[in-house]
Amino acid sequence: MKYITEGSNNITLDIDVADSKSIVGKLAACDNEIFTGWGDHGGLLDNIHIAETIDEIANKAIGFIFKDPETSLVVMSGCGTSGRLAFMAARSFNEKLRGAGITDCFRYIIAGKDKALFTSQEAYEDDPHHGIDALKEICAGKQNVLYIGITCGLSAPFVAGQLDYCMDNPNRFIPVLMGFNPIEMARDIPIRNWDKTFLDVARRLETLSKAGDGYILNPVVGPEPISGSSRMKSGTTTKILLETIFAQCFSKLILKQKCSSKSVLNCYETIRKATYKQSEKIGSIVAMSGEGLKHGGHIYYLGMGSLGIVGMIDASECPPTFGATLDDIRGFINNGFEAFGNEEGDITHMGRHFRISFRNFEQDISPNLSNKDTVIVLQTQDNQVPNLKTGNAKTILINYKDYTKPNNTQVSQPHDWPKASITLNMDLPWDECEELIGADLLSMCWMSLVEISSKWICNAISTGAHIMIGKIYQNIMIDVKVSNQKLYHRAISIIQKLVGSSETEAENALICSVFKCDDPSARLRDTTVEERIAIATPMDRVVPVALLKAALKCSIQDAEKLLDDNPVVRTAIENCLMK
Ligand code: F6P
Repeated sequence: MKYITEGSNNITLDIDVADSKSIVGKLAACDNEIFTGWGDHGGLLDNIHIAETIDEIANKAIGFIFKDPETSLVVMSGCGTSGRLAFMAARSFNEKLRGAGITDCFRYIIAGKDKALFTSQEAYEDDPHHGIDALKEICAGKQNVLYIGITCGLSAPFVAGQLDYCMDNPNRFIPVLMGFNPIEMARDIPIRNWDKTFLDVARRLETLSKAGDGYILNPVVGPEPISGSSRMKSGTTTKILLETIFAQCFSKLILKQKCSSKSVLNCYETIRKATYKQSEKIGSIVAMSGEGLKHGGHIYYLGMGSLGIVGMIDASECPPTFGATLDDIRGFINNGFEAFGNEEGDITHMGRHFRISFRNFEQDISPNLSNKDTVIVLQTQDNQVPNLKTGNAKTILINYKDYTKPNNTQVSQPHDWPKASITLNMDLPWDECEELIGADLLSMCWMSLVEISSKWICNAISTGAHIMIGKIYQNIMIDVKVSNQKLYHRAISIIQKLVGSSETEAENALICSVFKCDDPSARLRDTTVEERIAIATPMDRVVPVALLKAALKCSIQDAEKLLDDNPVVRTAIENCLMK
């Protein structure tokens, strides 16, 4: 079965050879599909069923949760970027409730716990029992729980376990499944130590949803610009849907006003257009950041509050997506964990990649900054990043106008801040948004719109920069990590697609790359997928080596040598596929 979220987007087939401005143009066109639709599937703006489901979930939240927030919870849960966006949403929604004197009742769950907010912990994604345990723990003592399980591909066993647990306990839980494939494309492969597949769980929920005891919110937004990179369009749609559902609740509860989900969705589309109007400048930022990475430099995002988090989320997905190191792209936030607001609090003791404050930036990073490094500052007028030591690094300022500032004056460059190489002044059309949703709701939600705009820009920068250093072939992430079931099967599809081999040949090449052997013995072929994943997880270049082996029918040693001689993975693959 060809999953749409894993498919290849026609718009980006040649993104690997595009210049930086065209890269941004192609990303803009892919993001347009979120709103206008893909194939026969309507987009967020014209899919009546989606708007109705959003309204139903919002109404259920009002009646079931907010009638007594003390004893109730909204739990948003997911793996990787889906879990990180759940965290970000919970943090922001709780702030709004507290601001209105209502008990905060949003919680997030991420597979692999808070460590996974910064570094991918892919293995937990495959474990339904881990999901169930985490859900039971967070809901202890609560009577009513609206559970939103996010899995872009309708595939994560972690989420399947939680949904199933909710359906087993209908007196306490209302389950919602959020994802971006049609139900019939939910994963139907066996889950280890469990008797159901994701499809079984989705079908069960489908039946339940007919009686209004559960919901499935699964707009089809089309394949990702980089195949399978669900941090991009799917992540964006996740954020938009969550914010649209709860904008309705906040409007009713706090402002005592009705709000239409269509108008909120239209605001996001307005912001998409305004953001990509700046494609030329965003392209220059991509070019500068990519040039730095090419010469061994790094990209650092600095932002206050939620804008710091946008940068950190963007950075966290680069190792599994592009085979980047944890040092290549990093994000920092003012006041570190105090401002971050995660469940486990300060986890700096977990290692240097968990040192996330501006102070940590100045201690760990500033002394070694060179002109190959790019520092990207995300700020609004009220949330300016203070002067930090950036040495010879190239500095890029991305400035947003606050909606709440009466004169809408532009962010001024902080005194003493080294002269920025590029300044991008984002003039978001607040007047148009105000017409759509009114001044009161916009005052409450404008920061979410700034965040989505920065997400688009950060995604363009990190994706574009990795394209420039040859981590993408056509629109495929060839250096993807093989660290869970989904990625294991993705790796096999990549080899099949590029080499034209059968599924068995592709899997054999992958096994050879994982076990570093030229011909897999019966013993190695008998290993379980879990055993292969456990060995492959810490390894580098598993997929590129397997690809070269499958294409050239050469030894593993020769494949590795080819990559050593030509470290730009894309060029190595292209040379060998053209032979
Ligand atoms: O396991 C890797 C990954 O694809 C991440 O890149 C992604 O954020 C996560 O899985 C979540 O996937 P899904 O939302 O489809 O469950």
